[in-house]
Amino acid sequence: MEKYETHEHDVLVIGAGGAGLRATIEAAHQGVSVGLVCKSLLGKAHTVMAEGGVAAALAHVDPQDGWETHFRDTMKGGSFLNHWRMAQIHAQESPDRVRELEHWGALFDRTQDGRILQRAFGGHTWKRLAHVGDRTGLEMIRTLQDQVVHLGVPVYMECTITRLFTEGGRIAGAMAYWRESGRFVVFRAKAVVIATGGVGKSYKVTSNSWEYSGDGQTLAYEAGAELIDLEFVQFHPTGMVWPPGVMGLLVTEGVRGEGGILRNAKGERFMWKYLPEARRHEYAVDEDEARRWVEAAVENRQTDDKRPPELSTRDNVARAIYTEVREGRGTPHGGAYLDISYLPAERVQRKLPSMYHQFMELADVDITQQPMEVGPTMHYMMGGIRVDPDTASSTVPGLYAAGEAAAGLHGANRLGGNSLSDLLVFGRRAGLSAAQYAKALASNPRLDEREIEREAGETLAPFERTSGESPYDVHRDLQTCMDRHVGIFRVQEDLELGLKTLATLKERARKVRVEGTRLYNPGWHLARDLANMITVSEGITRGALLRKESRGAHSRLDHPSMDPALGKVNFCVSRAGEEMKVAATPLPEMPAELRYLFEMAKEKVG
Ligand code: FUM
Repeated sequence: MEKYETHEHDVLVIGAGGAGLRATIEAAHQGVSVGLVCKSLLGKAHTVMAEGGVAAALAHVDPQDGWETHFRDTMKGGSFLNHWRMAQIHAQESPDRVRELEHWGALFDRTQDGRILQRAFGGHTWKRLAHVGDRTGLEMIRTLQDQVVHLGVPVYMECTITRLFTEGGRIAGAMAYWRESGRFVVFRAKAVVIATGGVGKSYKVTSNSWEYSGDGQTLAYEAGAELIDLEFVQFHPTGMVWPPGVMGLLVTEGVRGEGGILRNAKGERFMWKYLPEARRHEYAVDEDEARRWVEAAVENRQTDDKRPPELSTRDNVARAIYTEVREGRGTPHGGAYLDISYLPAERVQRKLPSMYHQFMELADVDITQQPMEVGPTMHYMMGGIRVDPDTASSTVPGLYAAGEAAAGLHGANRLGGNSLSDLLVFGRRAGLSAAQYAKALASNPRLDEREIEREAGETLAPFERTSGESPYDVHRDLQTCMDRHVGIFRVQEDLELGLKTLATLKERARKVRVEGTRLYNPGWHLARDLANMITVSEGITRGALLRKESRGAHSRLDHPSMDPALGKVNFCVSRAGEEMKVAATPLPEMPAELRYLFEMAKEKVG
């Protein structure tokens, strides 16, 4: 075995997006030694793709808001498959986490009287999203990153973790390699926090960039942790559809929050047709009411009018656009029109500066004058590592998870803006719990030299092969498989075909060959990521096969209704030797005092 570097920390945080940064800050505040590892450059994270705002019931614009309504909205948005306790903690703690961020220097847009301004988003009863124009995630990353840098936490950038080590079932450390040199690094750690985001790169059309290959979920799964709800994949309704090079790039929901209207190629405002019957009362009844709502939003004032139909939940809007296109009413490039050009140009540029530049520079479209063309893009995983709601601990001692890599808060569908508050609330809790766990551990875990050697051998294997495919070919076929068979609408035969294809892709991925040296070799890096993408994709597909109903973001054409029995279980994926096991596990029962919140609002639970 060649020589390798070793670093030792009490807590190792993997992933430097919002959740990882927030966990790092909290662990450092507890006085333990923390190391932060990221596959990419610090600050380059999917968090920045949550552009339109962070959801928190601050009640600055709509004074009726409160944690109880935020809790109810989150549970309804997730079709009650959420872990009630996570939804409760999230709704109660988000306001403090946003205020804390402001205290650390985040510059939110303001109300006339100088408080943090809030905008509307799909599925939120009130204007709830604190925002910085359409660059909220970026501002959050900037603020959190400043804190981490000032705390002097060592950051290991462009470093990919390939394996978690355990000793006697507890976390003991991790193996990694430097992307630039290809040399190995070993981290000794008492606790690990996974905050690596999602698995967007399993799909062709996605808002995710290259880093998002299900690494954290796979590391945890291989270390013995449980994954849940993988079948729930969020397709954000509005990604760019043109030009081809930027297909999938996010168009923030903030456009609709500011009054953006969706129309099909025939000029019809089609979202009226797609409002779910049970929720119709939450939306404006006609164009006049919708217009009055926008006027009130423009003036940042409270309104009693119901919200426009474009502010339905993401699962619903994505299905609507997809259906309009499939039925022949799509735009020239296969999407829908999203129009905000009827508002004053100055306002559009001020509220949506990034969207203005994005369309101007990438598509030669002036959004103050013309509509945008948009379509669904794979954006987010509701499923992930099963965690305890209060401590963010996984089922493996010493292993914690937060942000998109963790599961439970969002149930079957996430409301926009809840990801940024999620990563602040549970990032903090994960960092705190990991630090407390590490402090309580008497001895340092030991690493097994043979395991290190075995992992190094496996990582280098693609160089040793004299034949085999390119990882790029396998990746392309994986994306085709997931787009075709495990997309927005699903049916049994497609899913079965998808599963079969994934089995062959797994075999092909095991035999890929890479050329060149270990010095910054993207083909080699992809060879490693592929295995992770395939593992999580298999979990998505198995869960989707078993969930014979339609709920939230999971739409089965062959099972179009919700099955009340399936509303009581999560599908839980775990490793049984080389096999993936999936089992239905009961969802914890919501306590009476929280059920009462729904009764008070005359709403049905489930
Ligand atoms: O549309 C957006 O700005 C995305 C927000 C989110 O995913 O939470």
